Amino acid sequence: MKKRILTGITTTGIPHIGNYIGAIRPAIEFAKGSDESFFFLADYHSIIKNNNSTEISASVKNIALAWLSCGLDTETTYFYRQSDVPEILELSWILNCITSKGLMNRAHAYKAAISENDKDVDKGINMGLFSYPILMAADILMFDTTHVPVGSDQIQHLEMTRDIAARFNHIYDQLFTLPEPIIQKEDKVVPGLDGRKMSKSYQNIIPLLESEKKLKKSIMKIVTNSLEPGVPKDYKNCTVFELYKNFANEKEISLLKDSYEDGISWGEVKEVLFNAINHELTPVRDKYAEFVNDESLINDLLSDGAKKARILAKEKISKIREVIGIKRIS
Ligand code: ADP
Ligand code: TRP
Repeated sequence: MKKRILTGITTTGIPHIGNYIGAIRPAIEFAKGSDESFFFLADYHSIIKNNNSTEISASVKNIALAWLSCGLDTETTYFYRQSDVPEILELSWILNCITSKGLMNRAHAYKAAISENDKDVDKGINMGLFSYPILMAADILMFDTTHVPVGSDQIQHLEMTRDIAARFNHIYDQLFTLPEPIIQKEDKVVPGLDGRKMSKSYQNIIPLLESEKKLKKSIMKIVTNSLEPGVPKDYKNCTVFELYKNFANEKEISLLKDSYEDGISWGEVKEVLFNAINHELTPVRDKYAEFVNDESLINDLLSDGAKKARILAKEKISKIREVIGIKRIS
């Protein structure tokens, strides 16, 4: 069977180094080792949590720019916006109709949201949040995906996708492939400026697509202890060191460990980190400069991607309609 990988990024916020290490860089690598790859902007997922249209459309542009600047090859990859493939929403509805409410009640994200409420458990919860995993299942099942690279927080969504697919196959016909997750290792969770997981929700990010000057400024803000230069420092549990590991080879990592033991100053170690990140991001920034003011190019690439994806989606949805009985009267 062909290896088909697919992954999506929700279009909220600006892309950061955590997204790059955890999602974009490995996905581009996987794409090289698979028969076919699908990367898309999950823009309909983004409106679940954000009603600010200006922020949403800015984020769509920024996330598209992140993929393109990091070297995504639009010739060999299906690169599209979820909203440009309406068959996905059609499938989402069909899957809604075979998914038990109980399955959705168990979703971690939904449970976390209701646990924050006291008397009215449903306060602030929209149906989009509740059925989020079903739209995600539609994204995946539409294209007969075999492998989905995701962060460990998405494991449950993948399990639900498999449940939903198996249920459909059981009720109607074996139309869906059960996808395998490719989970990013726990030790690959990139820490942010304050040492917690780098996340837009914590406002502790190092942005991916900023100027050299802003990159340096962010790195200098990483929180460290107050040990003086010359005093040996512990590289374990050190945010600067953890970040560095993602941008250096074994030898460089071991050299930096020695420098910690020799009492390198925090200013110097941050400089080392800056140089490593900056070195890797320089070509990314160059590509970014090519695309950033060319919105029509970005739009064209995305709509070409959607056209290619829709050929497959239309074929799939017509088979699905047929087996569920939504078809010509005969
Ligand atoms: P955020 O936490 O900033 O909201 P998202 O949830 O939109 O980020 O994440 C998009 C992708 O980037 C996911 O695949 C996720 O696993 C990955 N990712 C996000 N933050 C990190 C991180 N700190 N370390 C590693 N991967 C991350
Ligand atoms: N839920 C994913 C996240 O927050 C984004 C996403 C939407 C996705 N649809 C997908 C990821 C399909 C993989 C496959 O990170």
